[in-house]
Amino acid sequence: MIEFDRVSFSYGNRLVLHELSFSVHEDERTAILGGSGDGKTTILKLIVGLLRPDSGRILINGADITEKAEDELRDIRIKFSIVFQEGALFDSLSVKENVAFPLREYTRMTEEEIDRKVRELLRRVGLEEAIGHMPEELSGGMHRRVAIMRSMAAFEPKMFLYDEPTSGLDPVSADVICKLILDLSGQGRGYIIVTHKVFDAFRLANRFMFLKGGKIVFDGDRPALLGSTIPEIRIFLRELNLDRN
Ligand SMILES: Nc1ncnc2c1ncn2[C@@H]1O[C@H](COP(=O)(O)OP(=O)(O)OP(=O)(O)O)[C@@H](O)[C@H]1O
Ligand SMILES: [Mg+2]
Repeated sequence: MIEFDRVSFSYGNRLVLHELSFSVHEDERTAILGGSGDGKTTILKLIVGLLRPDSGRILINGADITEKAEDELRDIRIKFSIVFQEGALFDSLSVKENVAFPLREYTRMTEEEIDRKVRELLRRVGLEEAIGHMPEELSGGMHRRVAIMRSMAAFEPKMFLYDEPTSGLDPVSADVICKLILDLSGQGRGYIIVTHKVFDAFRLANRFMFLKGGKIVFDGDRPALLGSTIPEIRIFLRELNLDRN
């Protein structure tokens, strides 16, 4: 369970989140929608303790992470598998070394075990052949698949956090990523997906939050989202071709 309790956050004097409160269960599939710069990525970084709020509390399974020291945050981070929006892979490392990175960092696996694990993870996403490639040789969709597998290589995450996992991809590659996201969830493992793409959000989530002006202005299910009269939400919904205003 993730709980934000009146969380405010600013970069310098730019207030991004203003007394934000919400709670999400680990097994839920939530999409966070909102305009560029509205603070979606900031929310994900706060959840894993990469950023700390200026005020308010963030509780993970009842424990206040805003008070924890950096070394204590490790236990929190391993509950989540986070896939960042950009620069998800290390450009100077091969696909193998990218996926092996968390294994080397967080486990005591032997070279042989690492090799076996990396191959197994890449096989799951049809990329075993690309093991020796450099990131620049991968298509956008392949890049995302490797990044997703790397994010969960070392741990069994309780929940996934995806920041714009399908942005910039053609519909076929985006479809592959959506299927992978669905495939990796289950067994009570939910996710939070940040996206601009309502189409993908509808496919992947059953709860929707809409962020605007540092606040959550909408939190509800699909029918409620479709019926919302908030102008920005109506603009997002145009992508579905339901709204012909
Ligand atoms: N490190 C930083 N220093 C200063 N300002 C920042 C920093 N990171 C983000 N911001 C600003 O904070 C605001 C929120 O950023 P954030 O990345 O959370 O937005 P976002 O909703 O994820 O946007 P996008 O949809 O474009 O990814 C933006 O106005 C951004 O310019
Ligand atoms: Mg972002």
